[in-house]
Amino acid sequence: MQNILQVNYEDTWCYDIIFHESYDTLGDEIKKLNLSNRKVCIVSDSNTMRYQQEVREQIQGFVGSVETFVFPAGEENKTLDTVRRLYEHLILKKFDRNDILFALGGGVVGDLVGYTAATYLRGIRFIQLPTTLLSMVDSSIGGKTGVDFDAYKNMVGAFHQPKCVYMNLSTLKTLPPEQFASGMGEVLKYGYIQDAAYYHWLIEHHDKIMSHDYETMKEMVYHSCYCKKMVVERDPLEKGERALLNFGHTLGHAIEKKMNFQLFHGQCVAIGMIAAAYMSAKRGYITEHELEEAISVINSFSLKVGVDTIDSKEVVEATKNDKKMEAGKIKFILLQQIGKAIIKQDVTDEEMLAAVEYIKKLA
Ligand code: GLY
Repeated sequence: MQNILQVNYEDTWCYDIIFHESYDTLGDEIKKLNLSNRKVCIVSDSNTMRYQQEVREQIQGFVGSVETFVFPAGEENKTLDTVRRLYEHLILKKFDRNDILFALGGGVVGDLVGYTAATYLRGIRFIQLPTTLLSMVDSSIGGKTGVDFDAYKNMVGAFHQPKCVYMNLSTLKTLPPEQFASGMGEVLKYGYIQDAAYYHWLIEHHDKIMSHDYETMKEMVYHSCYCKKMVVERDPLEKGERALLNFGHTLGHAIEKKMNFQLFHGQCVAIGMIAAAYMSAKRGYITEHELEEAISVINSFSLKVGVDTIDSKEVVEATKNDKKMEAGKIKFILLQQIGKAIIKQDVTDEEMLAAVEYIKKLA
C-alpha cells in the first residue's frame, strides 16, 4: 500500500492525499505549493488546537508567516457567525487572494474552513489536515464545504477543492471512542454501497480495527479514501452517482436534527443505514438475513443501531427539508444488494415511517 493517493478531475483540479503517521513530512508537501512568501492561517477548534504548534513548526521555513484562529468545538458552531469571525480575522491580518487557510480538525473545521476559503475574496486556497476518522475517510475529500443554517444541516455551502489533504493517522489513537465509531459509520457505508469485498474485509479485521492496530487502520483509511476518490472523480458536483454516498443520510440527518445534534454525524448515519437496509429488505432487494447481519456488524463497531427518543412522524417530516430533494422528491438511497446501492425517487412516507418505527424498536 502506498502513502499517497491522487484525486484528479479532468485536470481541472488535482490534489494529493497523504497518509502518514506524524506531521514530519508536512513541510515537504507545503514546499511543493510554493508558499514561501504567503500568509497561512491555521484554523482549528478547541479540541484540535493542541496540534497547532506541531503543524506550525513543520511548515515554518516553507511559508511567509503563520497566523492561527480557534473557535469552540461542536456542530453548533458550524455557522455563518463563526465564518464571519474568521473573515474578520483574515481582514485584520490582511490576508489576500494568494494566501492560504489550513483546516486542522474534524468535519466541522474542514467544512467551515473550506467554505470560508471558497468565499473570502471570491475564493482562496485551503488545505485539509483532518484529525478524525470521519473527516479522513469522507468530508476532507471531494470539495464539499459549508455550514449549517438555523436547524438545516449543510444548507449553505460551495464546492471548493483543497490543494492537498494531509492525514496524520496517529491522531486517531487519541480520538474519543464515540468519534471513532462515528467515522466507522462512513467507513462501513463504502462497503454497503459499492464494495462487498471491503465490507467482508472490515468484518474480518474487526478486532484489529477496534484495537486501533496502526497498519490495519491505515489500510482502512486508504481504501475508504480510494472508494471516495473514485466516486468524486466521476461525479464531482453530485449530478448522479455521488448521491449514492448519501446512503443512510436522509433519515440519518433527520435523526441528527431531531436529537439536537446530541449524537455524532456518523452515529446517526449508521442508524439511517439500518433504516434504509430495512426498507431495502421490505422491498425484497436484500434478504432478512443480510439485514440482521448489517445490524449485528454495525453494532459490533460500537455504533447504536436504534434510537427511541424521537417522534417517527417528525423524523419523516424533517426529511422534507433535506438537500437531497429533486423537484420535491427525495432521492433516497437503497441497497440493491450488499455492495451495490441505487437511487430511488419513489420511496413513500409510509415506508420511511415503518423504517423509523423499526429502528425505534432496536433501541
Ligand atoms: N459526504 C458525501 C459527499 O461528499 O458527497
